[in-house]
Amino acid sequence: MEIINRIPRMISIARELRSEKRRIGFVPTMGALHEGHLELCARAREMCDTVIASVFVNPAQFGPNEDFEKYPRDLARDAELAFTKGVDLIFAPALDDIYPEGFSTYVTVEGLGDRLEGASRPGHFRGVTTVVNKLLNIVSPHFAFFGRKDAQQVILIKRMVRDLAMDVEIVVVPIVREEDGLALSSRNVYLSADERKAALVLKRALDRCRTLYNGGERDCSKLISSMRSVIESEPLARLDYLAITDTARLDALDTIPFDQPTLISLAVFLCDTRLIDNIVLNGEI
Ligand code: PAF
Repeated sequence: MEIINRIPRMISIARELRSEKRRIGFVPTMGALHEGHLELCARAREMCDTVIASVFVNPAQFGPNEDFEKYPRDLARDAELAFTKGVDLIFAPALDDIYPEGFSTYVTVEGLGDRLEGASRPGHFRGVTTVVNKLLNIVSPHFAFFGRKDAQQVILIKRMVRDLAMDVEIVVVPIVREEDGLALSSRNVYLSADERKAALVLKRALDRCRTLYNGGERDCSKLISSMRSVIESEPLARLDYLAITDTARLDALDTIPFDQPTLISLAVFLCDTRLIDNIVLNGEI
């Protein structure tokens, strides 16, 4: 169990592990670990010989009025939790190692990165793909694990890996939820007791969509307006977006096709806290 802070040391460990033919699994995180992250670690543990998790709160993926400053940080707690799930090494680089003076190279997945989350959070995905690219270069994993909770992030990272012929397999792990259905998120800690109750409206809206779909409804405008009325019935909730799209281009759909995976995604504010959730119909992303 070791916490590595410096990039050259991380690279040299990764090189050694590869030369010993150990399969490296990588779980990138921004810390504030919860059961969702631990599920990624557990999955990596099952599939790999050495599991490395990173903890780095990436400023490049936060907008100017977002929660970068207040994002919860507790490396000692994160390391303890990760190690109990069988993580072998934590990589926790400093800000100026990831973004040294004069840093000027960014990775952008064009088009896909401007939709849904990208439309609400301009520049967010440029920050995500840039840091993930750099972390993958440093850690050189065989497998990297991401949660489907951030479905668009997964779609973009897969596209980046394919487009840039990166030698890593992306493993997508299902959403982990609280018993009452709230998707786990590091931002759930911001919710007051009332907002926490109100936050169940995201899952309720998605459940409504699934029920209608299972009953044969395929018209996206009807599904969207039904989900919207669920969100609007919750006084503490303010809808940011609600979308039914395909998973390849994230184009809005008129009708749910019978043979293509379809992403139903939404973002909702509970006062200042913005939460996202999704379901995928007809397959996986
Ligand atoms: O999903 C996250 O926590 C972050 O976007 C990631 C992938 C660690 C990049 O900073």
